[in-house]
Amino acid sequence: MKSRIILGILTFCILFPVRAQMVWKQVEAGVWKGVIGTPEDYSLLDVSAVAPLKEGFTRLPEVSLPDLADEIIGSIQDGRTNLRIPLQKNEQLYGFGLNFQTVHQRGKILNLHVDHYGGKDNGRTHAPVPFYVSSLGYGVFVNSARYLTVYAGSGARKDSPDAPIAKDRNTDKTWAANPYSDAVSILVPASGVEIYIFAGPTPMDVVRRYNLFCGGGALPPRWGLGFTLRTHRMYTAGQVEKEADEFERRGYPLDFIGLEPGWQSKAYPCSFEWDKKRYPDPAGFVRKMLDKNIRINLWTNPYVSPESGVYKEMYPVSGSHTVWCGIVPDLADGKARRILMDKFEQEHVNIGVSGYKIDEVDGYDRWIWPDVATFPSGKAAEQMRQTYGVWMQRITTDMYKERNQRTFGLIRSSNAGANSFPYVLYNDYYNHRDFITALINSGFSGVLWTPEVRNSKTAEEWLRRFQTVVFSPMAMLDAWASGTKPWSFPEVEKQIKEYAVLRMRMMPYWYTEFARYHFDGIPPFRAINLEQGFTWKQTVKTEIKHSDLEKNPYQEMVSKEIKDQYMAGEYLLVAPVFTGQKERTVVLPKGNWYDFYTGEYVGNGESITVSPGLDRIPVFVKDGAVIPFMEAMLHAPKAGEKINLEIRHYGKADGAYRLYDDDGETFDYEKGVYSWRDIKVKRDKKGRLRGTISKAEKGKPDNIANVTWKFMTEK
Ligand code: GAL
Repeated sequence: MKSRIILGILTFCILFPVRAQMVWKQVEAGVWKGVIGTPEDYSLLDVSAVAPLKEGFTRLPEVSLPDLADEIIGSIQDGRTNLRIPLQKNEQLYGFGLNFQTVHQRGKILNLHVDHYGGKDNGRTHAPVPFYVSSLGYGVFVNSARYLTVYAGSGARKDSPDAPIAKDRNTDKTWAANPYSDAVSILVPASGVEIYIFAGPTPMDVVRRYNLFCGGGALPPRWGLGFTLRTHRMYTAGQVEKEADEFERRGYPLDFIGLEPGWQSKAYPCSFEWDKKRYPDPAGFVRKMLDKNIRINLWTNPYVSPESGVYKEMYPVSGSHTVWCGIVPDLADGKARRILMDKFEQEHVNIGVSGYKIDEVDGYDRWIWPDVATFPSGKAAEQMRQTYGVWMQRITTDMYKERNQRTFGLIRSSNAGANSFPYVLYNDYYNHRDFITALINSGFSGVLWTPEVRNSKTAEEWLRRFQTVVFSPMAMLDAWASGTKPWSFPEVEKQIKEYAVLRMRMMPYWYTEFARYHFDGIPPFRAINLEQGFTWKQTVKTEIKHSDLEKNPYQEMVSKEIKDQYMAGEYLLVAPVFTGQKERTVVLPKGNWYDFYTGEYVGNGESITVSPGLDRIPVFVKDGAVIPFMEAMLHAPKAGEKINLEIRHYGKADGAYRLYDDDGETFDYEKGVYSWRDIKVKRDKKGRLRGTISKAEKGKPDNIANVTWKFMTEK
């Protein structure tokens, strides 16, 4: 009898798909979870295993469940879940991971799939995060470790209450092949899934809630925000030491050096063991570098060489397929994770290595394990692909955390939930403009991205790239193949050095902005679209290009977007200039803006044209900005080392900033061992600007010796 009932229910479900409104449960302030069907027992949040940073939510406005929640519909058919989230006409969408060419995602069809970026924003990317933010001030996250298909406002239902109106292409010039669609549809290849809604009220609040929900943003060690060089892949210990000395002799800052594949005895696949010819005394080498205040970071991929000491032990807990003939640790299995981390600890971390660059955890398809691969844990190849980079970040972060030591490294794939892991994405693609668009998009998705500089055809390109990497999460020269030095282009050496030094001088600002990322979820590098005083409708025009019908009979409505300027921290608007450009336009949000270098007024809520010359990357500063600088140092200050501050104020408005401080190296900040100092700039009785800075609370970190003030606009 019982089995007949079950059979009956099953038949019903197959014939009539389950279609249901979601039931929402509040899980944090302004965050609601809905469940449809039976979610799989392996999700993105399961893999990252981080807890929300609860305290951070207390500084966000109180909000109620967004109205659209009632209209979200989930249905299950053929073992797949279909989510339908309504859209309004005046709405734009951002996010869906690390896109390189577009900021506006409305109208896109994306297959969210971890991969090396292949030159098209089609969902295949290093961090295909299934989270999006609406310009109307809410966000949606689908907690699935599957390849998801997203119709981000593409496809119109015939029974939609807000259906587009049919147009006649023969006569109507406004006809477009992409009529308005009133929903985002997401196809999840599983018979159930968790979905989260994040409330605003502003898009920035949504992003903050998302980052806080995923543990808060990463807080790198202070040295991570200095300058980093990745040396040529075949360098020996002696060559690396010589290069570090050359940096010092020439007065270039350097905080950590990355060793590329040649440090290992075998690479592609990897042994994780030192090459004894190039590095005869690894411990001595690492110690010597640490004595010079330079940390060592190691490149690796996780694919195990048959010649590695851990190959045999790893074999039973690795996947069915190989990558470059190396076995693939099944990271969903605790034993595989332990074997790998023991090896890393023993060979690298115990002798003082500071972190990793974890390569090739993304793709390409032609060498990474195929989707038919199997893993002893029973996880699907697809699930492993979506989470492999997150696993590597999690286990290395934990390894350092157990030693109460912060790390900062590089990773080539990530996903939702990894927000608090101290890793920066990078890749082999090298389009300067697209690198900037990726930097903008990273801020919507809880990931960090570096527009690394590798080599250039001309001195102009070299300088232009260098100027942007200095205003990014990781100021990195990746000379792994070219061996290029910062001074390789003598024509621009002076300017390059000036920017390398500027990076260091701004360390108190960068460090505070990362602390805000951690404690408040505010991304340090982000789109202008998240700024107050800016709405996408202000500047965006939609247009159809009626050019050649024969070439393209399906002309689409395209919305123009801003994808070449971004915010760096609270106050700075960075507008990179690209090779060949003599001038460019910059869109300023509402409010008075000032030139970073001179303090002069530049505009308010308008588009301006600038021609900065080769020496300068245009940077603009908000009215009332307070930017803490320190003296030029070659290495980040060590725990407890005192620095001198130069506090700059821009514009005419009063200023207020909270300067963050801690030891810069450990996790003691999680136990409250940090300080926020209030910086205030106000007018005195005579109307002159005056600055004050509060003392650090008693017993809390206090690393400031002297303070000087610089009023950039009112000199
Ligand atoms: C690439 C990586 C480069 C460099 C190189 C070394 O895959 O993206 O940055 O590390 O490997 O072989």
